[in-house]
Formats: sequence, structure tokens, C-alpha cells
Amino acid sequence: MDTLKGLSIPVSIGKTTETEDLQWCARLMASNEPWISLQRTYEDSLPLLEDPLSEVYLLQKEGVRIGFIMIKLKGSFTGYIQTIALADSARGLGIGEAAIHYVEELIFRVSPNVFICASSFNTGAQKLYQRLGYEVVGILKDYVIKGYDEVFMRKTRGSFHDFKIQKPANA
Ligand SMILES: CC(C)(COP(=O)(O)OP(=O)(O)OC[C@H]1O[C@@H](n2cnc3c(N)ncnc32)[C@H](O)[C@@H]1OP(=O)(O)O)[C@@H](O)C(=O)NCCC(=O)NCCS
Repeated sequence: MDTLKGLSIPVSIGKTTETEDLQWCARLMASNEPWISLQRTYEDSLPLLEDPLSEVYLLQKEGVRIGFIMIKLKGSFTGYIQTIALADSARGLGIGEAAIHYVEELIFRVSPNVFICASSFNTGAQKLYQRLGYEVVGILKDYVIKGYDEVFMRKTRGSFHDFKIQKPANA
């Protein structure tokens, strides 16, 4: 368990595979935008959280769950921030930004790229990702559900070739 940096309130972050945690995350998704508009139910979300290729990091304040961030470090999409969600009361306090910085450090150990998607109507999330250095690399039309697109974004530290050269031998 770590504590997120740069916040005035202590928020812990730690990887979880606990069923109760993953069920809580699936409930958070199913009861919030953008997943409501995308018609992603609890039953749709839980298997994604349980996928062995995904890593779920739970965010807690004073031992109470307040959100999570899920990444993929393996498979075809190395370095993908698949989902981030905070409970309503925990939003707008910088926790999302701090959690993204935390997983970026994990991803940048294995890849020079971090990828993230935001739904076309989720302008708040897009604005946040742009502020954090993510650039739009494509539009996935009608990706999750017809009528809404996914904005595919990337933050990069350079090419794979340069990344390999710069990486210390013992890293
Ligand atoms: C998006 C989200 C993870 C950002 O985390 P956060 O801790 O609220 O964000 P921060 O406090 O670090 O940064 C604030 C910025 O986040 C964005 N933001 C804030 N509330 C938001 C909300 N309810 N939905 C989407 N984006 C939001 C805005 O760009 C905001 O910038 P502003 O204050 O200049 O308007 C969080 O708001 C959330 O869980 N939203 C609902 C689920 C969601 O949209 N997840 C992203 C799916 S791609």
C-alpha cells in the first residue's frame, strides 16, 4: 500500500484482487457516468475487473473505498489505463490526477507510452487528460455503443528504440 503524492488529504493506493473490492468497483462503474450512457452494467464490468491481464488499484481514504484505477501492463495493449473512477464525493480534489501519476510511473518502467480513452461526451475527463499531457491519437467511432465515440489518447516519452537504449541494464 502506498500513499498518493501531492495531495493535502492522505489517500492510499494498493493493488487488489479481493472479490469484495472488485464487486465494489463494478458497482461504482454501473451507477455512474460514463458507464450509464454506455449501458455497461455491473455484470459487464465485473469480468473486466477480474481479468487476470488487468491490475486494479483501489483508492482509500481513512480505510474507506473512494475509487479505483485499472491498468494493463501486459498483452496487446501494454500501458493502457483502462478505467479510472472516483466516488462522487471524492471528485475535483486532485485525486484522479495523483492516481494517474502513480500508475504512469509503473507503466513508464515497461513502456514509453501510456494510453487512455475517454468517451466523446466525457469532456471533463478529456480536459483532465489533456492537461496531464495526453494527446488525441484517434477517434474510435461507435466503439462501446452506437452513437458515442471513444477518444483515444497517448502520453509518450519517445520511441520504443530510444526507450530501450535509455533504460538502465538493471531496471
Ligand atoms: C474523471 C475523474 C477520474 C477525475 O478525477 P478527479 O479527482 O475528479 O479529477 P482531479 O481533481 O484530479 O482534476 C479535476 C479535473 O477532472 C475533471 N473532472 C472533474 N470532475 C469530473 C467528473 N465528474 N467527470 C469527469 N471529469 C471530471 C475536470 O477536467 C477537472 O478539471 P477542472 O477542475 O478544471 O474542471 C473523476 O472525476 C471521475 O471518477 N469521474 C467519473 C468517472 C469518469 O468519468 N471516469 C473517466 C472515464 S474515461
